[in-house]
Amino acid sequence: MDGLTFDDCLRVVDDPRAYEGWRDDFGRSGPYVVDSRVDLPFVADLADRCRDFGFPERATELLVAHRETWDHPAVQRLAAHYQWLVAERYHPGTYLHLGFPAPPPQCRLFYAYALLGLAGRVGAEQAAVGIDAAVTVATFWDIGQQVMLHDRIHGEADLRKGWWLCHHLAGWLFRIGRLQFHRRFADDHHGPAAAGRAFLDVHIPEDGPLTRAGCDASFARATRFMAEHFPDDDARWFGCSSWLLDPVLAEILPEDSNIVDFQRRFQITHIEEGWPSGVFEFVFDRPDLDGAAPPDLHTLAPVTTLQRAIVDHYRAGGRIRPVTGVIEIGDP
Ligand SMILES: CC(C)(COP(=O)(O)OP(=O)(O)OC[C@H]1O[C@@H](n2cnc3c(N)ncnc32)[C@H](O)[C@@H]1OP(=O)(O)O)[C@@H](O)C(=O)NCCC(=O)NCCS
Repeated sequence: MDGLTFDDCLRVVDDPRAYEGWRDDFGRSGPYVVDSRVDLPFVADLADRCRDFGFPERATELLVAHRETWDHPAVQRLAAHYQWLVAERYHPGTYLHLGFPAPPPQCRLFYAYALLGLAGRVGAEQAAVGIDAAVTVATFWDIGQQVMLHDRIHGEADLRKGWWLCHHLAGWLFRIGRLQFHRRFADDHHGPAAAGRAFLDVHIPEDGPLTRAGCDASFARATRFMAEHFPDDDARWFGCSSWLLDPVLAEILPEDSNIVDFQRRFQITHIEEGWPSGVFEFVFDRPDLDGAAPPDLHTLAPVTTLQRAIVDHYRAGGRIRPVTGVIEIGDP
């Protein structure tokens, strides 16, 4: 595998131009492979590894069923390069420059396998610096969760979220209790007090209700976790950018809704008027993140209170927008 050139590897992808950003550094990940710092041939214990990280059963099934697609030297060499980028080149301010091209067609779960290959080593490194194994497991659980969600939303075994899951494996995002916390730098959307400073971007995985008690515990644990493990970050703010923060939800959902309770914690700093919020993906399993128009409302079959409220709101000409808010740490 380590003898392959970059151009050899490009023969297995649909759109070689999308990988051009990887060309200049490609030689640098070669020694990384030879030194065996990258864990690739894990196929035999794949199911066990998925279970160790608590993957949804459907994700484990898909990963196991498609594992032979991984068994191609050029696919593995590209994956090794991606692993090297994540492990050696990731920075929260510039990670998008790493490039996350579409996976090779013969291995659509490319990013999931590559990240799982890295998970053992990163998990051992996190354990060595005293990070609770339960945090590591809950964090890497998201690899399987994203495989399951892609299948549920698009009906196919694929994963294009290399740009998202790299945060987890690079050690910049942790799931601590109910919520995920991404160590980042605030921008103008987070308001003048936070802009330019380190902050913790809060993400809400789909995994049961968003109760006040669960969130309280999560914010408190995250504050202690970051002070213990990343004191130099000096993060003073939690931030969140999500459809969940659109204040219109407080008008269309019942007073005792967890979403309404959650959004009231935040001081709103920015409302994005011209960008899709992903609400149809998160609430109706319809693709809605790439600027696609909202689905035909007649094709939706609303069942829950939120689904009914959203359909009524869109029928009346309303929208759910992505909204950013902040909480000063110590004050959630
Ligand atoms: C965030 C989340 C956990 C909130 O769920 P919750 O705690 O049940 O929220 P609420 O108490 O406000 O729910 C009020 C009502 O809306 C429903 N509801 C909430 N979120 C829903 C969702 N994503 N899809 C469908 N219905 C939903 C609830 O079932 C409830 O209706 P019901 O009384 O008829 O059962 C849930 O929306 C979720 O899992 N979302 C996916 C992840 C996400 O959106 N993350 C943010 C990405 S930017």
